[in-house]
Amino acid sequence: MSEQTLSNLSREERRFEPPADLAADANVKEEAYARADSDREAFWADAADRLDWGQKWDQVLDWSNPPFAKWFVGGTINAAVNCVDRHVDAGNGDKVAIHWVGEPDDDTRDITYAQLKDEVSKAANALTDLGVKKGDRVAIYMPMIPEVVVAMLACARLGAPHTVVFGGFSADALASRITDCDAKVVITSDGGYRRGAASALKPAVDEAVEKTAGPDGQSQVRHVLVVRRTGQDVDWDDDRDVWWHEAVDNASADHEAEMHDSEHPLFVMYTSGSTGKPKGILHTTGGYLTGTSFTHWEVFDLKDDDVYWCTADVGWITGHSYMVYGPLANGATQVMYEGTPEKGRWWQIVQDYQVSIFYTAPTAIRTFMKQGREIPDGYDMSSLRLLGSVGEPINPEAYVWYREVIGGDRCPVVDTWWQTETGQIMISPLPGVTAGKPGSAMKGLPGVGADVVDDDGQSVPDGSGGYLVLTQPWPAMLRTLWGDDQRFKDTYWSRYPKQGFYFAGDGAKKDEDGDLWMLGRVDDVMNVSGHRLSTTEIESALVSHPKVAEAAVVGAADETTGQAVCAFVILRESAGDGGPDIVEELRKHVQKEIGAIAKPRQIMVVPELPKTRSGKIMRRLLKDVAEHREVGDVTTLADSTVMDLIKDKEGSGAAED
Ligand code: PRX
Repeated sequence: MSEQTLSNLSREERRFEPPADLAADANVKEEAYARADSDREAFWADAADRLDWGQKWDQVLDWSNPPFAKWFVGGTINAAVNCVDRHVDAGNGDKVAIHWVGEPDDDTRDITYAQLKDEVSKAANALTDLGVKKGDRVAIYMPMIPEVVVAMLACARLGAPHTVVFGGFSADALASRITDCDAKVVITSDGGYRRGAASALKPAVDEAVEKTAGPDGQSQVRHVLVVRRTGQDVDWDDDRDVWWHEAVDNASADHEAEMHDSEHPLFVMYTSGSTGKPKGILHTTGGYLTGTSFTHWEVFDLKDDDVYWCTADVGWITGHSYMVYGPLANGATQVMYEGTPEKGRWWQIVQDYQVSIFYTAPTAIRTFMKQGREIPDGYDMSSLRLLGSVGEPINPEAYVWYREVIGGDRCPVVDTWWQTETGQIMISPLPGVTAGKPGSAMKGLPGVGADVVDDDGQSVPDGSGGYLVLTQPWPAMLRTLWGDDQRFKDTYWSRYPKQGFYFAGDGAKKDEDGDLWMLGRVDDVMNVSGHRLSTTEIESALVSHPKVAEAAVVGAADETTGQAVCAFVILRESAGDGGPDIVEELRKHVQKEIGAIAKPRQIMVVPELPKTRSGKIMRRLLKDVAEHREVGDVTTLADSTVMDLIKDKEGSGAAED
C-alpha cells in the first residue's frame, strides 16, 4: 500500500445522523459497545441465547489452541430447526418467509414458515433415502429458486455440510470443489433463467461428475438430485439421477431433527486466495448461526414487520449469511429474486412488496447511477427505511446517490465490511447510533476487535494507514480451511504471530476521528463486482491454453465493477501471432475454465513481461499500463526496455462486452 494512496483519500465532511425514531427504538444502542468491551464472552453468550439450543453450552469460547476456536462448547443445536421449526412452534407458521420473484414476470411464489418447514423436512427425508448421512458432504449448484434454500436447510438439518457452488462457475470449477470436499451427492436443476432466457445447469454437473471419476471410472458422486425449473431437455443417468419433484414431493413431511454439536461443520464455501487453488472456508454450526443472526438483527435493526431484501446470489457468502441463515433464524420476511438487475425491475419489486430493508453491492449502485435517476424516480419506494452495502469499498458519490435517490434522503446507509472467512459482518455503522460518513465503514461492531496496524503489528495513529487485523476471536469465524490446517495458519495467522491477530488481507486507513476506510486487497486477490478472484487462478487458466506461454493478470480500476480483469500474455512461438481471434479465444477459454465472471475485460498480447532480476513479474507496472498511467519506477527490471514494448500495445485487446 503506497503512502500516496493512503494520503490521497478525500477528506469527507458530510455526516448523516440516525433518524430520531429509529434511534429511539433501535435494537442495539450505544451502551452495547461498552457492555461488549467489559465482558466480550458474556456479550456473545447473550447473542447465542437468542437461538434455541438442545443442550446449553458449558463454555462460551475455548481459545486454548489458537487459531483453532471452539464456540459454545458442549452445546447442541440444529440450524434448520432454528431457521424454520421454532418460528412455526411459536405460532408464526403463517408468516411469509420468502416472497420469491421469478425471472419471467408473472412467476412468483410466497412461502410461509409452515410451508418451508414441510419442504425442508421432505427434502431431509429424500436425502436420507439417497444415502446422505450426518457428516457427508453435499454439493449444491442451483439458480436462485426457493429449492436452493430448502436444499441448504435440509443438509443443515441432517448435519451434512453443504458446499454451494455459484451457478455461474464452470464445470471445471464445480469438479474441483466436488473433489476437494469429496461430495457424495450433487443437487442442481435442469437450468435457470438469466436475462429472460433459460440457461442450462445440468450439463455442467454431468461434465463435472465425469471429471471426478477415479481410475476405475467411478465418481464419488452417487446421486444427482435435479429440480425441474426450465423444462429443458436433460441427459439422464437412471442409476444416478433423481428428479426432485419425484423424490422430495413424495417424501414425508415429518422429520425428527437431531441436535448437532455446536462445532459440527455446517458448510464449506470456496473462495479465491492468492494461489491458484481455491480455499474451502469451513463454518460450523452454533457460532456461525449466533454471529449471523445477531448481526442481521443488529445492523439492519430488524423488526417483526420488516420486509428485507438482500440481492446477493446464494452462491456467495452474503447469500449464505444474510439471505439464508441470518434472516431465517430471525424469522424475517424476505424477498428472493431469481434474475439479475435489469433497469427498473428491482424498484418495481421494492414497490410491489413494500421492501423496508435493502442490502446490495456498490457495483450495482454505480450501474444504476450511470443509467440515471429517472428510472428509480418512477417508483414509489417510500417503504424503504434502511439501506446496506457490501462487497467492496463504496465511494462517497455512490453512497450519497444511494442515500438520496434510493433512500429518499431518509434511510441510513450501513456500509458493512466482512469476508467469506469472517462469516458475519464485522465493521459497520449501527443505524440507530452512528452518524454515517460516506465511504467509511466506521468501526468494529460491539464485541468485534478490529484495528489497523503497521508491519510490526503496532496500532497506527489516527490519520494513518496500514493493514486491517481482527484482534479477538468472534463466533462466526472460519474454523479452518477444509483439509488444510497448515494453509489456514499460514494464510491468516502467520503475519502477526506475537500478537495472534487475524490478518484480513485488506489495506485500511484510520481517519482523524479514528473511523475506518477500507482500501482494498493487499494480496493478489482482485475484487470484481464484489466477487473475489485470484490473479494466479486466472493466470493458470490462461497458460493452460495451448497457444499461451506466459501470462500475468492484474486488477485494473473500473468505474462500474470496482476492478476489472486485465491480462498480459506471451504466446508460444508455435502459435505465431495467434490469429485474428486470439483475444476472444483466450477470453472464452478463461470462461470455460473458471466462469464468466473471470473473463478478462482486456487481454494484451505482448512480446515480454516486466520481470525483476530474480524473475518475479512486476504487476505494479502492468497495472500502470492497464489503468493508463505513466509507468512507474522501472529500475529494478532485468530489462528496462520491456515496458516500452508493452506500452506500444496499449489500447489493444479490449473486449466489447
Ligand atoms: O476486500 C474486502 C472486500 O471484499 C473482501 C471479502 O470478499 P468475500 O469473501 O468475497 O466477501 C464479500 C462479501 C462479504 C474483503 O476482504 N469487502 C467486503 N465488504 C467490503 C469490502 N471492502 C470495503 N468495504 C466493504 N464494505
